[in-house]
Amino acid sequence: MKGRIGLRITSSILFVFSFILFLSGCILQRRSMHTLERYYDTMPLPETHPLALEKKRRKAQAKNATPSGGSNSRNYGINQQVIHPSQPKPTALESWEQARRQFEMESQREKERYRTVGYVQLVDDFTSVCSAVMMFNDLDRVSSKASRVLIYPESWDMQLDISESQQREAQKILATQEKTLNTKRKQKNTKKKSKKKGEADRKPEEHAANPLDPPPLLREPSADISSQYHTARRLLHLARIKHSVTLLPMPDGLVTPLVMLNMTDYKRLIYLQHPAAILKNMDEILLNAPTAVITVPRDLSGGLSSNFLMVAPETGELEYIMKNGGVKKDAGGLGKVVERIYSTTAMILPRWPYEIFTSEFFDSTIETSGSRESVWLPSKVVNKAYYVLFDGGKISPNINKKWETVPQPWKLKSLEEGVAPKCRLVQDLGNGEEKWDCTARNVWRTLYDGYRQRRMEVCGLDLEA
Ligand SMILES: *[C@@H]1O[C@H](CO)[C@@H](O)[C@H](O)[C@H]1NC(C)=O
Repeated sequence: MKGRIGLRITSSILFVFSFILFLSGCILQRRSMHTLERYYDTMPLPETHPLALEKKRRKAQAKNATPSGGSNSRNYGINQQVIHPSQPKPTALESWEQARRQFEMESQREKERYRTVGYVQLVDDFTSVCSAVMMFNDLDRVSSKASRVLIYPESWDMQLDISESQQREAQKILATQEKTLNTKRKQKNTKKKSKKKGEADRKPEEHAANPLDPPPLLREPSADISSQYHTARRLLHLARIKHSVTLLPMPDGLVTPLVMLNMTDYKRLIYLQHPAAILKNMDEILLNAPTAVITVPRDLSGGLSSNFLMVAPETGELEYIMKNGGVKKDAGGLGKVVERIYSTTAMILPRWPYEIFTSEFFDSTIETSGSRESVWLPSKVVNKAYYVLFDGGKISPNINKKWETVPQPWKLKSLEEGVAPKCRLVQDLGNGEEKWDCTARNVWRTLYDGYRQRRMEVCGLDLEA
């Protein structure tokens, strides 16, 4: 037994020592390798020497291993974050915070850009206020983010002054009301029929805090009060609360689109005549149009339009126009004034697609004047148009081409069968068969029906007899 144990101990000792010997050999060898490598590193070698080649290969390998090398090296500083060794790498939270701040700054800048451009409506009689408000409703529909301004005569004495905080408060209440109304509608859709009693109970409560009620009158208004006064007042207040419109009473002599030239808080403004439908967002034009004090489309006869005017406000410009008699009652239409004063400096837009008239669906001058395309395609025309004016008329196809009035969409008469444009006979296929084209009629009808319906929704006014 004793001898056996002794044998084991000696063999273990032998094993340990030989292992240590092996290890020290290894270390010694590595060391001498390193010295050799270092020696060769410092020694100049010809490019073709195998050792030199090996060195090159190793260097290239080491470079590719680092993440900033390789394909990224082509990003010449764009988007590349240079991290100095002294600066600690930003944590995820910090870079998130940075991104958030940047996003906020950008959205603030964009907000400011949109604040400085806008759409202007102008009313000079009570009955047209609804048409103007509908234009702002259209702007919401086409998701315009630009400012809105509504100009009306000072002498109306509308007494609509409320503080900004009151306005914001009213807008908040309106938003919550609309939200609950939407959810109620949804519930109605799922439950089919809800209890009528509950609704009736809630109604007076809603009525009490109606944010769309204009502020109480402080004095007897100085304008002669027709029955329209209160409706107009209600609609002006609605425009401000619901469509974020800035109300701008003007001295009576200055209720003209040309006063936009003096609104130097803005960079660019578009005036549009009503009653009309805005079919496309024009924000891009407001933000990015080339520089010009006045921009205006042509009218049907090759003159300048009185229905569409874009201006870049400029100090002193309005005074200049006034000196030249541009805002006098007998100055002629807007287009005439612009033509006289800005004939050499105005930027001219083509009539198409900025402005078309509903009358053109009866008989298009665009077709006959050949200014756009050889064939007048009503559906294509309306799909591309920015702005359609309800000009309430048509040129009768008689030899003398007389102008006839056509009832506007809010008139009961506009619903009559014979009012819309007629279908056009395209082809006589013989044996009693004919091919008719009704697109003009359908487009016209869609425009009229849409306007009629929106007028009731927006202004709450019924059809007039
Ligand atoms: C134009 O604006 C300036 C400054 O806002 C004002 O002083 C001037 O009276 C305005 N001009 C007219 C004609 O309203």
